[in-house]
Amino acid sequence: MEQLSVNHLLGIKYLKKEDIQLIFKTADHFKEVINRPIKKVPSLRDITIANLFFENSTRTKLSFELAEKRLSADVINFSASQSSVKKGETLIDTVNNILAMKVDLIVMRHPYPGAALFLSKNVDACIINAGDGTHEHPSQALLDAYSLKEKLGELKGKKIAIVGDILHSRVALSNIYALKILGAELQVCGPKSLIPKHIESLGVKMSTDLMQTLKWCDAVNMLRIQNERMNLKYFPSTREYAQLYGLDAKKITKLKKEILLLHPGPINRGVEITSDVADSKNAIILDQVENGVAIRMAIIYLLVAKLNISST
Ligand code: NCD
Repeated sequence: MEQLSVNHLLGIKYLKKEDIQLIFKTADHFKEVINRPIKKVPSLRDITIANLFFENSTRTKLSFELAEKRLSADVINFSASQSSVKKGETLIDTVNNILAMKVDLIVMRHPYPGAALFLSKNVDACIINAGDGTHEHPSQALLDAYSLKEKLGELKGKKIAIVGDILHSRVALSNIYALKILGAELQVCGPKSLIPKHIESLGVKMSTDLMQTLKWCDAVNMLRIQNERMNLKYFPSTREYAQLYGLDAKKITKLKKEILLLHPGPINRGVEITSDVADSKNAIILDQVENGVAIRMAIIYLLVAKLNISST
C-alpha cells in the first residue's frame, strides 16, 4: 500500500506533492463511499480518536467527526470551554490524560500558532492540526485544492486568487503552500494592511486591486475578515471594505467571464461576498463542505495506516 511521507498532519509545509496526490486518490474512493446508501466502512473499527477544540468551530469539527464515524472509529469530543484547561491544566497534561484512556489519534484546533507541532513533539500520538491560530489549516487547504481540481482539472498553470484578510488567515497560508506544490499560479489581494509584507517570497503575486485580480484568475477564494484576531484597526469601516473588496453581482457582471468562487465558511454575507453571489451557480462552497468529509476520511485513514506500521 502507498504511504504518506509524514506521521502527523501538522501543516501543508511538511507535505510532498506525492502525499497530496495520495490523499486526493484516497478521497476519490471515500467520496464514492459517502454517496452510497450505506455511507460507512469498517476500516477503523478498533481506533479511538479525540477531537480537541480549544477554539470555536462548526464545519471543521462536524466534518472531522463525521469522517471518523463514517470510518467506524470510536470518537470522543472535547471543547475548551467545558474542560479543566479553564482550571489551569497544561496542554500536555490534558492530552496525556486523554491518551491514558487509550486514544490513538488527536485532532486539535488551538488558538496558538505551532500548538500542533509542539504537541507532536511532546506526546506519543498521531496529531492532526485542525487549525493553529493564524498559522495553518491543512485539511481546509486540501479540500479547497481537491474541490478546485474537481472543477478545473489538473491545477498546474491554473490561476487562483485568494482575497481578503491574508494576514490573519491560516486558510490563506495553507492554500498557498498546497496550490504552489500542485503548480498553480497564485495572487493574493486585499487592503495593504491585511497582506503580510514579504508574501511575495512565497512565490505569489500580490495586488490591492480586486477587479484586476478577478480578471486575472480562473477561481477566487474569498476569505472572512478575522475580527477575533485583530487588536488594531486594519481598515476604516466594514462598509468601505465591502465596497472595495467584497464580491457582488455588479463586479461579477463587469468581468464578462466565468470564474469559480470558493469560501471556507463561515460566510459574512454582505461583507466579503453578497448573498446572491454566494448562492450563484459558480460558487462551489457546498462542494467544498461535501469534499471536506471525504478528504478528512482520507487523511485519517492514511495516518492510521502509518500508525499500524510503526507499532509492528
Ligand atoms: C476557517 C477557519 O476556522 O480558519 N473556517 C473553517 O475552518 N471552515 C476560516 C474562518 O474562520 O474564516
